[in-house]
Amino acid sequence: MTTTRAPMIRLLLLLLVAAACCFSSGSVVAATDSIGLGASVTGNQTLVSAGGIFELGFFSPPGGRTYLGIRYAGIADRTVVWVANRNDPLVSAPGALRLAPDGRLLILDRQNSTVWSSPAPTRRITAGAVARLGDDGNFLLSSDGSGSPQSVAWQSFDYPTDTLLPGMKLGIDFKRRLTRNLTSWNTPNDPSPGQYTFKLVPGGLPEFFLFQGPKKIYASGPFNGAGLTGVPNLRSQDFLFTVVNSPDETYYSYAITNPQLRSRFLMDGTAGVVQRYVWTNGQWSSFWYYPTDPASSGGDFGLLLFLEEEASGQNGAK
Ligand SMILES: *[C@@H]1O[C@H](CO)[C@@H](O)[C@H](O)[C@H]1NC(C)=O
Ligand SMILES: *[C@@H]1O[C@H](CO)[C@@H](O)[C@H](O)[C@H]1NC(C)=O
Ligand SMILES: *[C@@H]1O[C@H](CO)[C@@H](O)[C@H](O)[C@H]1NC(C)=O
Repeated sequence: MTTTRAPMIRLLLLLLVAAACCFSSGSVVAATDSIGLGASVTGNQTLVSAGGIFELGFFSPPGGRTYLGIRYAGIADRTVVWVANRNDPLVSAPGALRLAPDGRLLILDRQNSTVWSSPAPTRRITAGAVARLGDDGNFLLSSDGSGSPQSVAWQSFDYPTDTLLPGMKLGIDFKRRLTRNLTSWNTPNDPSPGQYTFKLVPGGLPEFFLFQGPKKIYASGPFNGAGLTGVPNLRSQDFLFTVVNSPDETYYSYAITNPQLRSRFLMDGTAGVVQRYVWTNGQWSSFWYYPTDPASSGGDFGLLLFLEEEASGQNGAK
């Protein structure tokens, strides 16, 4: 009895080990969130953030141009929230994203010509440098791979396109000479810069303006430190808003306290408004936008309450 049972148990163990090995190697290939020096992401390969929230990869809207972007991964609508090469489309696909040995991120075309490059890293790069896509949607190059704030050598959050995600900043970093604005896509199929920009104009109290080309079309009014509350259909404690005004930097930012909530703040080039969306019941629901129609009763939703107040002031003066 014992002599016949032992081989069977061994066989079972072998099968278990084999299954475990193949399963884990399969999942390692499928779910990489980062690349190291010299590594690349090519063609339709993607990086997926550890919790499966965001994905980084190439996309090709109708028209034959290819872009590297970050989009949502875990939901049906894979809305693009960031584009690396919005001014430098790839016309000769497939493309490759490579982390060069000097710590620059490069987008290469089929002929290996560089079509886009990130600026020189702001920290000394070590052999352990890693560019990782986080569950917050930030693609962050860490000079030593630790991901610590001191090791940040470049990050996509410093170069917004048309979308402000929780944790991103809208404003100016005077020390680092970074201007972070939201500029609309040119058309829904063309991520190149469109005519609308939402940005901080420095000087005095923090004030944000909506531009159409060179023309200021709406002003937020200076931020006076008042609390921002009152969000319909949402508990307002889901959102935390920050306006920082210091000699080093001035910015607006927001955070979400409910980790289940996906939210984005968009400079929409089709409507010419900034809109805030949350993902609910399988779709994006827009519950706040600016400028609002003064005749509509649904206006003053508070997330940027000071914007609303100024908008009604301007409309009254017309
Ligand atoms: C990725 O691209 C290759 C070659 O273009 C194609 O054969 C393959 O089906 C693609 N895979 C996916 C998942 O789209
Ligand atoms: C592009 O670079 C890769 C990796 O260095 C190499 O394998 C490939 O042959 C190159 N392709 C061309 C067209 O030069
Ligand atoms: C918005 O920011 C980008 C990148 O910093 C800059 O190139 C562009 O000129 C800015 N647009 C406006 C209208 O300020």
